[in-house]
Amino acid sequence: REMLGVLEICGSLLGRVTADSPLSILLAASAFVLSLGYLLPLGSRGLLTLPGGILTKYPPYISSTIPFLGHAVAFGKSPIEFLENAYEKYGPVFSFTMVGKTFTYLLGSDAAALMFNSKNEDLNAEDVYSRLTTPVFGKGVAYDVPNPVFLEQKKMLKTGLNIAQFKQHVPIIEKETQEYFKSWGESGERNLFEALSELIILTASHCLHGKEIRSLLSEKVAQLYADLDGGFTHAAWLLPGWLPLPSFRRRDRAHREIKNIFYKVIQKRRQSGEREDDMLQTLMDVTYKLAFPLRAAAVSTPAALRMLNLDETSASTSAWLGFFLARDKSIQEQCYAEQKAVGGEDLKPLNYEQQLKDLNMLDRCLKETLRLRPPIMTMMRMARTPQTVAGFTVPPGHQVCVSPTVNHRLKDSWIESLEFKPDRYLQDNPAAGEKFAYVPFGAGRHRCIGENFAYVQIKTIWSTLLRLYEFDLINGYFPTVNYTTMIHTPDKPVIRYKKRSC
Ligand code: HEM
Repeated sequence: REMLGVLEICGSLLGRVTADSPLSILLAASAFVLSLGYLLPLGSRGLLTLPGGILTKYPPYISSTIPFLGHAVAFGKSPIEFLENAYEKYGPVFSFTMVGKTFTYLLGSDAAALMFNSKNEDLNAEDVYSRLTTPVFGKGVAYDVPNPVFLEQKKMLKTGLNIAQFKQHVPIIEKETQEYFKSWGESGERNLFEALSELIILTASHCLHGKEIRSLLSEKVAQLYADLDGGFTHAAWLLPGWLPLPSFRRRDRAHREIKNIFYKVIQKRRQSGEREDDMLQTLMDVTYKLAFPLRAAAVSTPAALRMLNLDETSASTSAWLGFFLARDKSIQEQCYAEQKAVGGEDLKPLNYEQQLKDLNMLDRCLKETLRLRPPIMTMMRMARTPQTVAGFTVPPGHQVCVSPTVNHRLKDSWIESLEFKPDRYLQDNPAAGEKFAYVPFGAGRHRCIGENFAYVQIKTIWSTLLRLYEFDLINGYFPTVNYTTMIHTPDKPVIRYKKRSC
């Protein structure tokens, strides 16, 4: 009976989503496969028997009367509220079902430690991420390769993200920002997120892909990037990749075209015999056997380049930072005063050594933005082996999740947790000394390698913008969070700006 109910609901939902019939059939087929994923674990809730016959408890399960979809609608509408309510009711570890998958959340620093200290063989990242990332990045990198190989790739990429490189990046980013914002004129109201997304594609590409690839960026290529990023969606994560959805087709075409652009640039640089001191050169020179076997290097270099271009995370963070500064004019003015304090009254061109490193107030504002609006709301792993946490055992097959957003605002860890208070970091232990209370860049073996570059990029962009303009909210509107995108971007992100007289 439950099976029929599930299929009925899937059918009617999918019927509404799609009007053309071959697609409906394909979607219905995949819904059937997914519904099996829901039904199979039904019989196995309750107690779990571990090897050696030990009986143990599953985490508290939040049941739902809606078959297959489970809590998808409530969670999709307001995930943070859903998780915070569940934390109050069930404690730091609990499970629930959405679209046929069972999720177990580990909230708070102590529970999150299970994920951050785990081995990839036990809590596995490829199992949950590769269907999203491989079509976007390409084969041979990240979650398409065994984790020891990816770890070596990360190590190698990190060597290219060093201070010597950052010193070169700062003037590049400053110039790109000045050029880009020329079109904004003296004053007005514009979509800040859209502008920063476009700018960050240019700056990240210039800094990490090199000047040749930057010079090829046009409106058409920007659209290709947008189509490729369109691959990071809930649909791409939930539905089989072979479905002929228009967004999947656009993503795959963009992937091929961008790969070709990278190929041509790499070939041209090789043939010219010229060498540059940049990330592209680092990748072209790589001889690590494990990370990029020589034969495959030609395939994986463009993919590695693409992996470096995680623009949405930085664009969303930069836009939120702008709105926090616009909302609190006194903090904005302190940041501007700091620009003059480190750059002189005449605001000398930015540089890494004497200025960017000393912009402590801006640094704290960025840190606080990443606390309240971390772009990656949930980190996820697939439990491959039983995992014990807080007296419960998470069985294999559960998707184990940690949410930076929730950890960053737990009242047990943070004072005035919802307030934007950059000066909280002047204290030694702003989060009661808890190790995983603040994790915008993750932790453990999957920790982000782009943190320092993201700080350099966002601080340089905002230094330039603070020097150019004064920002205000429009009629006091502070954007709500758009939960429909995988990265939680600001909704209706239009800001008012006026050129500074000096
Ligand atoms: C504000 C900007 C950024 C934020 C908040 C951010 C956040 C994160 C988080 C939370 C993770 C951990 C994912 C997990 O454990 O499942 C991660 C991993 C990673 N990030 Fe970032 N990231 C940012 C920018 C970047 C940039 C600019 C790059 C590239 C230059 C980058 C490259 C990576 C890589 C390669 C990983 C490793 C994933 C793994 O080992 O599984 N990130 N990032």
